Amino acid sequence: MKILIIGGGNMGQTYAKSFLRAQISEKEDLMILEKSEHRAELIREADIGHIYDNPALCIPFADLVILAVKPQDSHELFKSLRAHIDPQQVVLSIMAGITMEAISNELGISKIIRAMPNLPAQIGMGMTVFTTSEDVTRIEFVMVQNLINTTGKSIYVSNESAIDASTAVSGSGPAYVFFFMQSMIDSARELGFSKSEAELLVSQTFRGTVDLYRRANYNCEEWIQKVASKGGTTEAALNTFSQTGIEESIHEGIKSAFIRAVELGKE
Ligand SMILES: NC(=O)c1ccc[n+]([C@@H]2O[C@H](COP(=O)([O-])OP(=O)(O)OC[C@H]3O[C@@H](n4cnc5c(N)ncnc54)[C@H](OP(=O)(O)O)[C@@H]3O)[C@@H](O)[C@H]2O)c1
Repeated sequence: MKILIIGGGNMGQTYAKSFLRAQISEKEDLMILEKSEHRAELIREADIGHIYDNPALCIPFADLVILAVKPQDSHELFKSLRAHIDPQQVVLSIMAGITMEAISNELGISKIIRAMPNLPAQIGMGMTVFTTSEDVTRIEFVMVQNLINTTGKSIYVSNESAIDASTAVSGSGPAYVFFFMQSMIDSARELGFSKSEAELLVSQTFRGTVDLYRRANYNCEEWIQKVASKGGTTEAALNTFSQTGIEESIHEGIKSAFIRAVELGKE
């Protein structure tokens, strides 16, 4: 099966490397269409597929076309693809906010999968939420699901609006976690730890906490109760978090990400 990845940036390269690592695809069957000469050179050095700069030379040969450019570049992308794409070709888009209806109208195709991955896909620990148009066959569905699963875990949703919702939760989520980690690292430094000690304290705390959460059958509230004893240190921190409204800020932030995802689709 020949796969064409359009946009060889963070995500495009992550997909290419994951397909090769999982041996689900051969280098000879991977094509990458990349606009940036500098990036094309880096991909050439990484030796993860054939590089193209002209859609006419690669689109006709692709069994699956993956759209991995920034949403802001989608109009230019659609313009450059329109003349070359076959209405029967299967397209997987990971562009935030760009709806299946827009892709269908712009490219004149009907077999569309829309997915929202996240950055840990780079190490096979990604979370992807995806949906498909009606014309995608069972075989095409399984083929794409298998490809997506080389980057981590996935869930299928029948309602496309859940893709924008997942963009706000798991798509952008790694940045929220890094934000929280950085705040804790800064606090640890203020309390006297060196940079490397602070980073270890925080990263190991995150890692251990997530593993604990996944191994036992308690929800987050129940785990919090286990750490926070009455009148203790954790309770003091949690009370301050509550007074300063962190929880509301997180809800508001995620809501803003959702609104932005919907807006991106309309721009
Ligand atoms: N990064 C994430 O964590 C993440 C998570 C979930 C979803 N996504 C989605 O994944 C998509 C790609 O994100 P990314 O972070 O991988 O972006 P990126 O690193 O900027 O990569 C996009 C690449 O595509 C190139 N490009 C732009 N227009 C093109 C065209 N018409 N033909 C060929 N190549 C073209 C860009 O070149 P120039 O630099 O020269 O423009 C750039 O090298 C986005 O739509 C984003 O919403 C990203």
